[in-house]
Amino acid sequence: MKNFISVHDVSNINALVEKALEYKANPFKDKTLGANKRIGCLFLNPSMRTRLSTQIAAQNLGMEAIIFNVGSEGWALEFEEEAIMSGNTVEHVKDAAPIMGKYFDVLAIRTFPSLKNREDDYSELYIKQFIKYAGIPVVSLESATLHPLQSLTDVITITECENHKPQTTNHKPKIVLTWAPHVKPLPQCVANSFSQWINAWGEADFVITHPEEYELAEQFTKGATITHNQDEALKDADYLYVKNWSTFNDYGKIYCNDPEWMLTQKKLKLTNNAKVMHCLPVRRNVELSDEILDSAGSIVTQEASNRVWAAQAVLSEILNAKR
Ligand code: CP
Repeated sequence: MKNFISVHDVSNINALVEKALEYKANPFKDKTLGANKRIGCLFLNPSMRTRLSTQIAAQNLGMEAIIFNVGSEGWALEFEEEAIMSGNTVEHVKDAAPIMGKYFDVLAIRTFPSLKNREDDYSELYIKQFIKYAGIPVVSLESATLHPLQSLTDVITITECENHKPQTTNHKPKIVLTWAPHVKPLPQCVANSFSQWINAWGEADFVITHPEEYELAEQFTKGATITHNQDEALKDADYLYVKNWSTFNDYGKIYCNDPEWMLTQKKLKLTNNAKVMHCLPVRRNVELSDEILDSAGSIVTQEASNRVWAAQAVLSEILNAKR
């Protein structure tokens, strides 16, 4: 693996999931793989899980992790080619990224979309410019449109749960991505990425449900069943992935903040005793009710803890490819 930006960088999803689960069983089995190597983790936006899990994963492989909150502590970066930098940006990525390429062996970056200009956000300029100019492998810690480490974690978590069930022939779990209300417009990254990964994985009956105005980009959802009827979608579901996202077509807006879309125990009764997932952070009693988050059916902590093994599997693949 050269870079980790989307599911397209993964040749075999199940093999990567297996590798992550092996690290979960034995975290230090490759504790010297990253010896004398350094990863730079650049955050243009806030994070808790991604930052800590990537740091732990690197350390489990014997790698030094250096965190740089460039969004709050660094020079404001310019990403446009041929920009006349007479505004707020201080340093061009073309100057900064090659330096990071000398300081580090792997570069990991979190950027968010502006949610103002869809074409700009969906061009993924920021992460592409780092790949172009850093000259070392780049790992997405969430980009303008995708969150691949989260999605790998989600597939790991579902696989883990499925492995604990009695095996029945040809059973494909039903996975439902269900839109949830929120108080502010959020990126589509997690929903796009989850859709992309579950479709590419191909081992589930995949349904997406959202209010009419909340279509996601077809490039990620193609292959899933899409319905605006949440109750119909929830029927017999094995896994519910709850997430808010803002509008894609009339970009970055909130139209419907309908509390009826919040998952409740009553709605959960429609499912096949579904496990409830969320990438976190979650707004309690807005996106998801206390009664669900605090119930045995919620696997959000298991899911977040698996972020370590997803990051470790990815870093291991990159380090092995660099040998
Ligand atoms: N799920 C996730 O990426 O969490 P953080 O924003 O805290 O990293």
